[in-house]
Amino acid sequence: MFTDLKEKYTAVRGRQIISLFDDQRAGEFSVQADGLFFDYSKTNIDHETRDMLLALLGKVDLPEKRAAMFSGEKINITEDRAVLHTALRRTSGPVFVEGCDVMEQVLTTRDRMLDFAEAVRSGAVQGQGGAYTDVVNIGIGGSDLGPAMACLALKPYARGPRCHFVSNVDGAHVTDVLANLDPRTTLVIVASKTFTTIETLTNAQTALSWMADTVERPADQFVALSTAEDKTSAFGIAADRVFGFEDWVGGRYSVWGPIGLSLAIAIGAEHFRAFLGGAEAMDRHFQTAAAQDNLPIMLALVGVWHAQAARYATRAVLPYEQRLSRFPAYLQQLEMESNGKGVGIDGHDLTDPSGPIVWGEPGTNGQHAFYQLIHQGRHIIPCEFMLAKESHEPHLTHQHHLLQANCLAQSQALMLGRDLPAARKIAEAKGFEGAELERQARHRVFTGNRPSTTLIYPKLTPFCLGQLIALYEHRVFVEGVILGINSFDQWGVELGKELATALEPVLKGDSAGGQNDPSTVNLVAQLRV
Ligand code: F6P
Repeated sequence: MFTDLKEKYTAVRGRQIISLFDDQRAGEFSVQADGLFFDYSKTNIDHETRDMLLALLGKVDLPEKRAAMFSGEKINITEDRAVLHTALRRTSGPVFVEGCDVMEQVLTTRDRMLDFAEAVRSGAVQGQGGAYTDVVNIGIGGSDLGPAMACLALKPYARGPRCHFVSNVDGAHVTDVLANLDPRTTLVIVASKTFTTIETLTNAQTALSWMADTVERPADQFVALSTAEDKTSAFGIAADRVFGFEDWVGGRYSVWGPIGLSLAIAIGAEHFRAFLGGAEAMDRHFQTAAAQDNLPIMLALVGVWHAQAARYATRAVLPYEQRLSRFPAYLQQLEMESNGKGVGIDGHDLTDPSGPIVWGEPGTNGQHAFYQLIHQGRHIIPCEFMLAKESHEPHLTHQHHLLQANCLAQSQALMLGRDLPAARKIAEAKGFEGAELERQARHRVFTGNRPSTTLIYPKLTPFCLGQLIALYEHRVFVEGVILGINSFDQWGVELGKELATALEPVLKGDSAGGQNDPSTVNLVAQLRV
């Protein structure tokens, strides 16, 4: 697959990105829509490459597949499910799943959830010790990363109780989070689509015991977010404290519905609706904009150029926004759980790598950690910079300018680099001479010609965060369609879960574990000494 693109990459890989620039390139190799600006001019993509990438869309029937997703067809074929997280942010219907309009249920649940969030905020719903001061969301993966990332991102809008997140089965996590909380004024949200996830149920039991030590009816201070209402009632959570959703919402796509309850409590119903509004605006854009002007499509095509044609194994996501510090982690699940696959949708082995390894940290912190490798290491790592025009700190404008300058400087340095003559001048100025000058100069060379993109957004408001998350969701969808994979299952997480279940009794000493491999037997022995 991608033979023509690979050949094209081989043909152009030696040329300098800067040599592609004329008066038009910066404008022509960017997309502007709904206040967002995506610049991909600092990549090795030229007109012909872009045409080749755009041609892929027709070959894989992207328009038909996009329509199938939005209209509720069961495109997640290995789980026999529709993929309709987009319904969770719609303001009206209809949206049909197997002939039934699901929107009435979506809107009713949204109203109920947002009424509850407002009641918690106002104190109309209270704990045994009075109005709730703290909310603890217990969940993992998609039942944690979305609300945790968004609560941090939208901190300037948070006026409600403090929100905390427990995910890891490591008892340290729940211990440290609960340590300073008053159980009488703490609301615990158990967030689990399946309500079978061992980490979440174990942490929830620990929190229930902690609550029971002080509170008379501990389960009354619990809420469940799940598709499995039989299991939530078995846990002891009353039906009116359960906010349900359907199996057509994938865990990593679930922040828009009940799983977003902690965020709704933090920022309030109005801001939460604005968050949904941003995502809905992105859905419209994705469905209607021409391919070349379509943000998710162009992000995906740049991704395909880098991951499949150029074979760059990783991509760094570098938000120059401290409040987006969990955004790379959020994207790791969204992108790698969706597109980290080894077989195509029809079950054949993929011959090309699927989605790249996604990683990152906010700037400027990353600059003082791993950027050394990005600039001078032998790996080429396409960098995806994200930057706000405006900050929430008008009294610190000078800091925002410094942040912006750093971001632009990095993409400039990656593209332009610094050649040997310039490096020699620097070494000379430091007083080096002869062979030592040459040696010192070589350490100061930046090869440059390293690709990056920059996404500029107006300000990290609830609406804008909704746009950004939906943008990446649809980018994943487009890449998945081009790769011919199912982006909506996650069988790769199953084997480890099964083996952990079998190993737990071995570690406890309740089972000999004779079926284990010699290395694991030895590790168990070390742990049990
Ligand atoms: O890690 C696998 C996974 O199923 C994710 O896809 C999901 O987001 C996470 O576990 C949590 O699942 P649940 O919400 O059912 O507890």
